[in-house]
Amino acid sequence: MADDKTNPGRFSPAGRADGPAARPPAPDAISCRATNPLSLQDNLSKVFLDERQAKATTATRLFRSGEIFAALAKVALPAFFASKRAKFTMWSAGCSSGEEVYSMAMIALNEFARAGRRPVMEAFGTDINPRRIAEARRGAYIRPSKDAFSRNCWLLLERYARVGQHQVAMGGELLASCRFSLFDMRTRPKKHTFFFIVCNHVLQYYDSAGQRHIIENLKAVLNPGGYLYLEGVTEACIAGAGLRKAGTVPNLFAVGPDGREAR
Ligand SMILES: C[S@@+](CC[C@H](N)C(=O)[O-])C[C@H]1O[C@@H](n2cnc3c(N)ncnc32)[C@H](O)[C@@H]1O
Repeated sequence: MADDKTNPGRFSPAGRADGPAARPPAPDAISCRATNPLSLQDNLSKVFLDERQAKATTATRLFRSGEIFAALAKVALPAFFASKRAKFTMWSAGCSSGEEVYSMAMIALNEFARAGRRPVMEAFGTDINPRRIAEARRGAYIRPSKDAFSRNCWLLLERYARVGQHQVAMGGELLASCRFSLFDMRTRPKKHTFFFIVCNHVLQYYDSAGQRHIIENLKAVLNPGGYLYLEGVTEACIAGAGLRKAGTVPNLFAVGPDGREAR
């Protein structure tokens, strides 16, 4: 990478001046909780599929959660690079229209480049909302305002996407490494395993039995030595699931009592 002007550099942890978390939330960052927590038996269609409600409950945006990207760049990817694994796989469970997945992929591609490695990686996004998954597959969004981003994030966007006057379209490298499918995370996943799993702005909608059940489903497909980023979950659920805090990034967990998981 040439000079500092074009090099996004390493992603900064949340809270630092150049990290996205240092900025006030963008106007579309609607935070909405279900009035009553959902149980495993609830029909999710009213909350997440009814378009009047889904505007709030499926809200997302590019580079929304600085903590996730710090977890990725500072903890998960260095651990992956130190391991003997061939492919870095990540999953956003409850990805809505895909911005979180593409943002994670941009951070990861940048870290692979910084490490001088060929990017052998795949990013999966799943959701129960078919409209949002269709939007995710298209990978084109209304052009966000440059002011809503840190300098590093904007540089990543310019590098890996086509930023037009009215829209931003994900570039070929992103489209090739990101996959989306309809999937209800209350179901035990079977097909793939992952080194980094994110469940962001989702678990807060569920009661504690629902949270515990979903966390077990996510844990079941976590690679040994991998990491879970879980936002909106109670401490009791974390302790009950046998998770421990990993590093200093909030909401980042690993399985097991210490840091010596098998690689
Ligand atoms: C507020 S959005 C969060 C989007 C993204 N993770 C973020 O933080 O920007 C919550 C998403 O979770 C999805 N969701 C809720 N329950 C789900 C379930 N059981 N399985 C899959 N997706 C689910 C909803 O459809 C919605 O798109």
